[in-house]
Amino acid sequence: MQRIRAFAPATVANLGVGFDILGLAVDGLGDFVTVEMSSHPGVEVVEITGDEGKLPRTPEKNTAAIAAQSVLKHLRASTGIRLWLNKGLPLASGLGSSAASAVAAAVATNVLFGETMTREDLLPAVLDAEEAVSGRHADNVAPALLGGIVLITGHTPAEIHRLPIPEGLYLSLVTPDVEVPTAKARAVLPEVIPLKALVHQTGVVAELIHALHVGNIHLLARSMQRDTVVEPARASLIPFLKEAKEVAYRSGALATVISGSGPTLCSLCLTSTDAEAVNLAIAAFYKDENIGATAHATTPSATGASIVEAL
Ligand code: HSE
Repeated sequence: MQRIRAFAPATVANLGVGFDILGLAVDGLGDFVTVEMSSHPGVEVVEITGDEGKLPRTPEKNTAAIAAQSVLKHLRASTGIRLWLNKGLPLASGLGSSAASAVAAAVATNVLFGETMTREDLLPAVLDAEEAVSGRHADNVAPALLGGIVLITGHTPAEIHRLPIPEGLYLSLVTPDVEVPTAKARAVLPEVIPLKALVHQTGVVAELIHALHVGNIHLLARSMQRDTVVEPARASLIPFLKEAKEVAYRSGALATVISGSGPTLCSLCLTSTDAEAVNLAIAAFYKDENIGATAHATTPSATGASIVEAL
């Protein structure tokens, strides 16, 4: 094959209480990467669209190119690739934008070279890319690569666990128009937490995983909101977080948490109508505060990255 185009989905990391260890892939939103063979070794970034010129074109600094380069290195490829990145996701938005680009690039490059690597084999390549822009955490890259809801207890394939997706779960994702770089949102976190907080947080993560296994969305919502460590530390980075949450609950959200490192707010809902209503209400609230916002009603996606074109 001469040319491969891959899609990788947006992801909601943390799920409130599972900092760096839980993430889910969402349906319909994501980034596209096209790659084709080049006789020159390495990765040439030919074009990036949808980023308003903000992303680095230098391969060593671009997350898609870093992931593709890492795959080429693993394959010991003597030839290189030309790469086109089409951003469907806003940058620094808490939707796993850098992860989606890295995953789409890794998946496309692997297929271009005959798909000798499994999805799990691609994990180190996408983690390298994620580390270069926002720290070495797999709660965006793993669900973008594999799909579904994922528990991450380490960075080897044996430590990445697919969890059940409850039936009838809808999501509202509202992104206020402010950028919160992940590195900045990680810098405000406490380095040490009291034992009491550890006990609470561990218990609530266990409750969340139990809720997924029994398919109890109300219990899932309850546990997601019980983070006492990360969200409080980041609250000041998200404009009007408390007020926006209140608006969400009044409009039918069961839980509203910061998606990843924010500023996107992810609300759990029982119907697509509720998710749309929450979208409208939070976006209208931000508009009244003179902050633009984009909103999507979606569902968790069992499918991770996919090939959309192979010519
Ligand atoms: N777990 C990461 C964080 C996700 O919250 O910093 C970043 O998207």
